[in-house]
Amino acid sequence: MWFRSLEWYACPMCHAALRLKILDERRVDLSPEYLALAKELGRLDADFNRFVESGALLCDHCRVVYPIVEGLPVLIPYTTPTHAEFEAAHKALLAALPQYKWPAKTSVPGEEFVMRSFAAEWRDYDYDGVIWDLSYEDHEKRFLAEIGEQMLHDGQEGTFVEIGCGLGLTTLFAAKDLRCDAIGVDLSLAVLRATAQFKDNPFLHFVQGSAFYLPLRPLIANVIYSHGVLHHTYSTQDAVTAVTQHCARGGWIYLWLYGSGSKKGSVARRFAFALEETVRPSIARHLSAPPVKATLSVMACAYLAVNFVHRLRDPSVEKYTFANAVHAARDRFTPMFAHRHDYPEVAGWLRNAGFNCLEKVDWRTMPTANQANYRRNTGVRGKRVTT
Ligand SMILES: C[S@@+](CC[C@H](N)C(=O)[O-])C[C@H]1O[C@@H](n2cnc3c(N)ncnc32)[C@H](O)[C@@H]1O
Ligand SMILES: [Zn+2]
Repeated sequence: MWFRSLEWYACPMCHAALRLKILDERRVDLSPEYLALAKELGRLDADFNRFVESGALLCDHCRVVYPIVEGLPVLIPYTTPTHAEFEAAHKALLAALPQYKWPAKTSVPGEEFVMRSFAAEWRDYDYDGVIWDLSYEDHEKRFLAEIGEQMLHDGQEGTFVEIGCGLGLTTLFAAKDLRCDAIGVDLSLAVLRATAQFKDNPFLHFVQGSAFYLPLRPLIANVIYSHGVLHHTYSTQDAVTAVTQHCARGGWIYLWLYGSGSKKGSVARRFAFALEETVRPSIARHLSAPPVKATLSVMACAYLAVNFVHRLRDPSVEKYTFANAVHAARDRFTPMFAHRHDYPEVAGWLRNAGFNCLEKVDWRTMPTANQANYRRNTGVRGKRVTT
């Protein structure tokens, strides 16, 4: 973690500020472009290039210790296998903090499972220029179309927070397009890969955390962005309510959620939805079993065929490799939860949380490869009322 990111992080349980204990840190040689931007934004100081590789974050209020592993702060309110590994490697540090314990909250329903299934989904992905069926270039265009001109304008030079950032590609585009510090939060260890991949960018910050217990100070985000995430939790509404607490007054939120259109339409689409509803719960429960792996490979072949047809219709759709197809099949068939919500419902939640300027994102503004996706699903943006 960049040393200076301490100013945004907070205990996920009580939201108090955290104290940093450094075990290992380095000074990063930053590119002239980043240094110039940091200077322009008034963020360049003696600590700007300090990167903490390992250490601990302490909450003096809860008397809890959170590990920093390979540059990644692990700010979830319960333990995972990462904690045991950290404990084995850093016995002396923990022995010197006898009054601090690991966090021991109970996770929200299904969350530890969701963490494992998505870790498996991202583990084999390569940063290969294609994400889902989009080139990185189209992915960035999609991001800009999602947030729209007003959010792009108001979010400049502020703090951007992405919930469920996966491998951090959108977080990267946000930092660039909004000329801001961008924080990517994800429940899975995809963020460990993102931390390593983008370790030379001092405007990118990744943290392992849950949407239900965001390890961030309240009201810090000028833009909160979340695409394809909150419907994968036990309650989309509770997740939306939790993340809105971190949006600054006058700040913006963008959410993309599965919509009911994804279960309607052609016979093939209805069949795919019925198949998903039938097999997803049992696939989710037996993720590492060999028959599940074989089933996912068969499904990946179906994805390759669909991708082939899509590319005949629209050449801007990227060609799937087998790995891309397995990733897409995993995304559809392995999550434990996949709820569907339409615009009026989501807009109602946001209105109750104090947002206005609510708007359903127009699918026609998307790159062509993604328009159908936006017709069927729900992209919503809104602004938090200032008074
Ligand atoms: C379908 S992926 C989408 C990733 C990325 N937003 C994208 O569009 O490529 C869903 C991501 O949400 C994360 N996730 C699921 N539940 C979460 C939660 N409660 N808090 C934070 N992240 C969560 C998963 O780990 C996964 O990386
Ligand atoms: Zn605390």
